[in-house]
Amino acid sequence: MKATIGKRVWRLGFGVMLGCGAAAVLGVAQASSVAQGKAVFDAQCVACHSMKPGVNGIGPSLYGVYGKPAAHVAGFEFSAALKNAHLVWNKVTLSKFLANPQAVVPGTKMPYLGLASAKKRAEVIAYLENPEAK
Ligand code: HEC
Repeated sequence: MKATIGKRVWRLGFGVMLGCGAAAVLGVAQASSVAQGKAVFDAQCVACHSMKPGVNGIGPSLYGVYGKPAAHVAGFEFSAALKNAHLVWNKVTLSKFLANPQAVVPGTKMPYLGLASAKKRAEVIAYLENPEAK
C-alpha cells in the first residue's frame, strides 16, 4: 500500500516537472520565432510598414492588426478590394495573404509578390501577434 502511494506521488511530481519543462520550452520557442519574425519584418516589410501604433507609410501600421478585421487601421486609405474582402487577420488568413497577396485579395494595393517560405511567414506572423515581445 505504502509503495503504491509512493509511486503515485512520484508520478504526480514527474508529471508536474514534465509540464513545466514543456511550458518553458514553448516559451523559448515562441520568443525565438518572434525575434526571427522581427528580422523578417525588418528585411521584407519595413519599407512600407511600421510596427509603431498610428504610424502609416506606404502601407498601414501593422501594430495590433493581428486578431482584427482587415482594412481597419485608422487614417489609412485602404483599397476597395481589401475593404470588401471581409477578412479577419489570424494565422491562417495572414499566411495565405502573405504567400500571395494578389491571389488572396485581387486588386489589393499591397505591391508585394509574396513570402514563399512557410517558416518565415509563421515567424513574421508570430511577430505581428506579439509586437512588444523582444
Ligand atoms: C511595397 C510596400 C509593401 C510591402 C513591402 C509590404 N506591404 Fe503590406 N501592405 C502594403 C499596402 C499598400 C497595404 C494596403 C493594401 C490595400 O489597401 O489593399 C498593405 C497591407 C498589409 C496588411 C493588411 C493590413 C490591414 O490592416 O488590413 C498586412 C497584414 C500586411 N500588409 C502585412 C505585410 C507584411 C507582413 C509584409 C512583409 C512580409 C508586407 N506587408 C510587405 C504595402 C506593403
